[in-house]
Amino acid sequence: KFDGLAATPQMGWNSWNSFACDINEQLIRDTADAMVKLGLKDAGYQYVNIDDCWHGQRDKDGFIHPDPQRFPSGMKTLADYVHSKGLKLGIYSDAGATTCGGKPGSRGHEYQDAKTYADWGVDYVKYDWCDTKGLSAPGAYTTMRDAIRAAGRPMLLSMCEWGDNKAWEWGKDIGHSWRTTADIYPCWNCELNHDAFSRLGVLRILDRQAGLRKYAGPGHWNDMDMLEVGMGMSGDEDRAHFSIWAMMASPLILGNDLRKMPESTRSILANKDVIAISQDQAGIQAWKFFDDGRLEYWARPLANNEWALMVLNRGEQAVNLSYDWKAHFISDEMSKREVDFKKAVYGWRDIWGGKSGDTGKKLEASVAPHSVLLLHLKTKG
Ligand code: GLA
Repeated sequence: KFDGLAATPQMGWNSWNSFACDINEQLIRDTADAMVKLGLKDAGYQYVNIDDCWHGQRDKDGFIHPDPQRFPSGMKTLADYVHSKGLKLGIYSDAGATTCGGKPGSRGHEYQDAKTYADWGVDYVKYDWCDTKGLSAPGAYTTMRDAIRAAGRPMLLSMCEWGDNKAWEWGKDIGHSWRTTADIYPCWNCELNHDAFSRLGVLRILDRQAGLRKYAGPGHWNDMDMLEVGMGMSGDEDRAHFSIWAMMASPLILGNDLRKMPESTRSILANKDVIAISQDQAGIQAWKFFDDGRLEYWARPLANNEWALMVLNRGEQAVNLSYDWKAHFISDEMSKREVDFKKAVYGWRDIWGGKSGDTGKKLEASVAPHSVLLLHLKTKG
């Protein structure tokens, strides 16, 4: 897989979290317009992804067509429109005979579908895992990868088997990202189990990333699912959710309605400093290096000897923090990166709070409930 796609975690938008099956071509066009107008394209968001339920029927030769009521102009016209805005178009299919929404899946039509998407000008394929009884996941995802290659157009392959088959163990040379869990839900720490699928809050997804960081890197990422920023959590929770996804090098796929987004949400999603952490060229996922029982400390080594540090307060009370840098030696066995604050003084910047300081002095802060303190560290010249 040397196509150069997803050298850093992919950024974009997807229709599912806000609209589920209630989608149409006007929504996709309006979303592309909003991405440009709101500065999200400039911030790095690139893909406009249509999720489940765009489908109409297969014709007598087996070719899939979009729903003629919802996408009357056809997918090629829509792709041209999205491209004219400098953005890219994503589409959704499923390895089984039917998608999770009961639409035609790609089973038995993989090469034909990949060719169709390529002809339409699609740039991204999210490939789901419903109705796949009897299929091997590595086999089915390899088939779609090979079908995409044969179709001759670079298309990012986003694998969506929810971690049921541990795609991280075999997916690196097949897809550009793999889901690690069941679907996300816009809550801090809840878990819903009302049908066959469970849905997980932000912390529940974070807790399921243990042991996975070694599998991620440029071109192949752990996908913590699409963002729920702007979907009903508090501002602190939204900022924490976005910070965690950036620290963990997860794809950043927006899930809110961009056509009506308050500035408070927009400013979180367009935060250049958080996006810079997500998109850091070194592509090293964060890990938890310290836990004092009240706060968790996560580190992400960045390119140019810089670091990102996140202090997470999961709890219900504000926690006062007094952090003696010199007592901490951060060492990452995986990347061989380490930092000894007794030897080197780093300048830090508090990305959400705007303060700055250096590691020569203790860090004093109050971390609100359900929030993070996110710091960017650079050596002092
Ligand atoms: C699964 C996926 C979701 C979404 C739906 C569509 O649940 O995990 O992200 O694509 O299917 O039906």
